[in-house]
Amino acid sequence: MGVLQRVLLALVSLAICQSAAAVEALQISERQPGNSESWVALSIVLASGLTAWFLNHNAPRVRVFGSILAAFGCLSIAAWFLLYVLGTGFLENPKPNQTPLDSAKPVLLWIQAIISLLAGVALLSVAFKQSKATDNLALGAANEADRYGRVSRVLHWTTALLFLALIPMGIFASIIPEGTAYRLEYYVVHKTIGVIVLALVVFRLFWNRKSPRPALDASLSARERKLAHAAHISLYAMMILIPVSGFVMTSFHGAPTFFFAWELEPLWGFSKTGTIVWGMMHKYLLPYLLYIVLGAHILGALKHQLIDKHKSAFKRMVS
Ligand code: HEM
Ligand code: HEM
Repeated sequence: MGVLQRVLLALVSLAICQSAAAVEALQISERQPGNSESWVALSIVLASGLTAWFLNHNAPRVRVFGSILAAFGCLSIAAWFLLYVLGTGFLENPKPNQTPLDSAKPVLLWIQAIISLLAGVALLSVAFKQSKATDNLALGAANEADRYGRVSRVLHWTTALLFLALIPMGIFASIIPEGTAYRLEYYVVHKTIGVIVLALVVFRLFWNRKSPRPALDASLSARERKLAHAAHISLYAMMILIPVSGFVMTSFHGAPTFFFAWELEPLWGFSKTGTIVWGMMHKYLLPYLLYIVLGAHILGALKHQLIDKHKSAFKRMVS
């Protein structure tokens, strides 16, 4: 074969490889047929909303069903990690680390899976105890002086379930190696639910103005009162800052924000500095702050109920 023929053959092979790579990239960035990932996102949102509604239903039997659904949600996260994520091998061979903090991700996922497993089992035992209760819950939509009304409760638990699910989902999405076929699907579900959380929080802030929140529980000491107040304000701030920083990071990265089947194109041009700064917020600063504040919030609520034995404490937000 002459030199010219060899060069031509090399060019043709290169062109074939290039177009194959382009087609592969197209397939990777393509949405699933029938937008199945949007249906997954919708199912998670509806299941969380229904669980939150059932948890605060008038009828005791429906409340039991709500606790079983909540247990099922926690156990599903644990099963997803133990049966699926571990099987992918991505924990040992993740996308290359961007910062040394990324090496903590497998440990974080393990901790979250174990907490989900324990929470699922605890909720099943709560459901068993609830199954003996016969009292109807007389509750209006508006907040009362000493307890939250139905709208605030359903908003709190829907947001809490979605928010808690987004954390392991976001961590796993960020370790899936580039080029893995279903990487985009995780981003679609994560971003769609993130946008819904933001919308729910905005609605919740409007609702708080219309129906003032109850004063903090009278059984709290002055110090606990200060801590609970600070935790609530910080959680509201996180529920706004985390999705907003995700959106800004995504836009600086030049990627669209997905909302079910719709795609909101970036609102401004690509910027490496912008991606790094907002990525630091969304991926490191805010999640680590969140672990502290949310840990204090949940442990505080459990201490109030299980150690201090203030029986009315949880009942202000769920019955
Ligand atoms: C599954 C774990 C959770 C438990 C057990 C829990 C429990 C509670 C309880 C009992 C209250 C009422 C406090 C009171 O009586 O004054 C409350 C309020 C609140 N929770 Fe949670 N919560 C959880 C998860 C979350 C999550 C994930 C978030 C947000 C990211 C959150 C944000 C809030 C906020 C902002 C309030 C204050 C509500 C207001 O006054 O408007 N919670 N939580
Ligand atoms: C309440 C809402 C949200 C929560 C709690 C949340 C939480 C998280 C967490 C914990 C991570 C893992 C970060 C890491 O360890 O690297 C993550 C990653 C990510 N989030 Fe969110 N997020 C939310 C909303 C959003 C929104 C609205 C968007 C975009 C519109 C978004 C885009 C992303 C992207 C692109 C990643 C992956 C970054 C990477 O590949 O390194 N998030 N999110």
